[in-house]
Amino acid sequence: MLTIALAKGRMQDDALELFARAGIVVAEEELKSRKLLVQSTDNRFQFVFVKPGDVPTYVEYGVADAGVCGRDVLMEANADVHEPLDLKFGYCKIAVAGRKEVVGQDYNLLATVRVATKYPNIATEYFHRKGIPIETVYLSGSVELAPLLGLSDRIVDLVETGRTLKENGLEVIDVITETTARLIVNRASFHLKRDEVSKLISELGNVLNK
Ligand code: PRP
Repeated sequence: MLTIALAKGRMQDDALELFARAGIVVAEEELKSRKLLVQSTDNRFQFVFVKPGDVPTYVEYGVADAGVCGRDVLMEANADVHEPLDLKFGYCKIAVAGRKEVVGQDYNLLATVRVATKYPNIATEYFHRKGIPIETVYLSGSVELAPLLGLSDRIVDLVETGRTLKENGLEVIDVITETTARLIVNRASFHLKRDEVSKLISELGNVLNK
C-alpha cells in the first residue's frame, strides 16, 4: 500500500477528484468523517490529510510515499523529493503586492524592504536576486492585513482571483512566479516501490492527458 499526503484546504477536493477520475476512490462516509487517515476503496492507497506546508516534510522523511501540494509550498520548503507530475489544478500567482502608494516606488530609496509573507524563503530569494535588502515578517495567513495595519509596506502572497487584494485596496507590484499542484514522491519509494509508484504516475498522467 502507498501512503499519500494530501494538503488539506483549498486543494483537497480537487486532488481527491483527480484521484477519483483515475479510479482511486475514497468512500463518501470516510471523507465526511474527521479521520485524518483514510483508505481508498481498493485498499491500494492510504491518504493522510495534513497542512499544506507539511506535505513536503511527510514525503521527504518517507512516512508518506507521495504527496500532493502546491509548487509554492515546494519552493518554500526546498524539499529533496521527486516531482514527476504537474497536476494542472490550483493555479495561482506568487506576487509582491502593496498599497497604491508603494507601487512603482524605487527600491533604491529604501534602506530595507519589509515584507510580510507566508513565504520568507521565496521572498528573500526574490529581493536578494535584485540586490535589495529585505526584512521578512512571517505570518501564517491573512497576510493582506499587514500593509493595512502598517506591519509592512509589501507582502509576498498567493493571488488566485485577485479579489482579496482588490477588496483590501492592494495592487500587484510584480509577479514572482506561478504555481499549480504537483505530485511529489519520496526518493527511496521512487526506487523501492517502483511498480506501484509508476502505476500511480501513469494513472494520473492518463487522466491529465485526456
Ligand atoms: C490565499 C492567499 C490570499 C488569497 C488569494 O489565502 O493567501 O489571501 O487566498 O485568493 P484570491 O486572489 O482569489 O482572493 P487562503 O484562502 O489560503 O487563506 P490564508 O489567508 O489563511 O492564507
